Amino acid sequence: MEKVDVKDAKGKLGVLIVGIGGAVSSTFITGTLSVRKGISKPIGSLTQLATIRLGKRNENRFPKIKDVVPLSDLNDLVFGGWDIFKEDIYEATKHAEVLSKDDIEVVKDELAAIKPMPAVFDQDFVKRLHGTHVKTGATRWDLTEQLREDIRKFKADNQCERVVVMWAASTEVYIPQSKEHESLAAFEQALKADNKEVISPSMCYAYASIAEGCPFIMGAPNLCIDIPAMWELADKHKVAICGKDYKTGQTMLKTVLAPMLKTRMLGLEGWFSTNILGNRDGEVLDDPGSFKTKEVSKLSVIDTILQPDVYPDLYGNVYHKVRINYYPPRKDNKEGWDNIDIIGWMNYPMQLKVDFLCRDSILAAPLCLDLVLFADLAQRCGFYGIQDWLSFYFKSPMHKPDRVPEHDLFIQHTILKNTLRKIIGEPTLDYLD
Ligand SMILES: NC(=O)c1ccc[n+]([C@@H]2O[C@H](COP(=O)([O-])OP(=O)(O)OC[C@H]3O[C@@H](n4cnc5c(N)ncnc54)[C@H](O)[C@@H]3O)[C@@H](O)[C@H]2O)c1
Repeated sequence: MEKVDVKDAKGKLGVLIVGIGGAVSSTFITGTLSVRKGISKPIGSLTQLATIRLGKRNENRFPKIKDVVPLSDLNDLVFGGWDIFKEDIYEATKHAEVLSKDDIEVVKDELAAIKPMPAVFDQDFVKRLHGTHVKTGATRWDLTEQLREDIRKFKADNQCERVVVMWAASTEVYIPQSKEHESLAAFEQALKADNKEVISPSMCYAYASIAEGCPFIMGAPNLCIDIPAMWELADKHKVAICGKDYKTGQTMLKTVLAPMLKTRMLGLEGWFSTNILGNRDGEVLDDPGSFKTKEVSKLSVIDTILQPDVYPDLYGNVYHKVRINYYPPRKDNKEGWDNIDIIGWMNYPMQLKVDFLCRDSILAAPLCLDLVLFADLAQRCGFYGIQDWLSFYFKSPMHKPDRVPEHDLFIQHTILKNTLRKIIGEPTLDYLD
């Protein structure tokens, strides 16, 4: 197996987060700083905890991923980013009400030193928020130029070798793909013409990041980099991109349970998913425009896994509904219910009920860490364009236009690990021996 020529992971890795003051970002940063000090364990993170089987089953070789794959060291991460509120990340972490005071205080100084840069924001794209710490500029193009300057300055000021940019900001309202998204030339023209209908703020960040040669991760379901213009830009600058929408709670369960039904050839009549959530994300998703973006992302999963066209008797008529209810008392501690109506032998109905009492940002934080380290790895490997080997982390995995997305969590896991095996020159596994 030929080894991929991977550039060294040495030096500082800048992690620039859009929405750095939010619940997911602040939980990710606080946890990483705490792990770095040996105070917390990086539970949920494959890059830090998981092993990888190498060779045949009888060889008994299961090293940790981080011991055989050249990933950046956590001590080399430098955090920065943008938010529409200017409070520092110590204040923002307290505000998010995810972590206990004790867990925040141990890294107080490091958190307080991180101050968000002013954001590119347009309230038409996130109706429920009123940003106060925002850039001004004549056009979307000017704003994008300012973001590029921010990235260059951050990199120089912090002596970073490399930078990864990650979106963990609010979900923008749904916009369909339009002709301005279809080629880079049309997109750049729309940026310069300040076409606010079709160029969302997240597209400005993505453009800036890719143009600066920094991998870009889209953690929300925004259209953003899932358009031909961005794929063209990523190819032009040879930059790795991945998304969309972190696969954390209910959808993670869905991508385990749906393959289970299909593997056993059990039928499905309906799947009703509902959530109560009381954090700022819940408030943003209470707006129909932002909810629509999330709904599209959450709905795509079942159809792709179950292939109703291939199995019309089993899955030809599935009623799939997804609801998110903003319920402030729950804060970040989301509760997700699933009612699944399944069909067995001779058409007899059965039901499956799932009640997941989770913590949204606690589930998302380790995904952020892995994605930052793997996106940086991809870039150092010379991989560019859509990184569909990172589908494992996303609800709505981006994929090359000629491929169908892979949603099954365990197939995604196999693809991820086989890619790592390829990178280090080990044979990929077929699981026969
Ligand atoms: N937590 C999860 O399980 C999960 C799963 C999948 C996706 N997500 C997505 O991750 C994102 C973050 O979630 P969260 O719970 O941290 O939300 P949050 O509301 O706590 O944080 C979002 C942050 O983004 C900021 N923001 C909004 N627009 C911005 C802009 N244009 N530029 C810079 N900053 C901006 C807000 O001020 C806020 O601080 C959301 O889009 C959410 O849908 C979360």
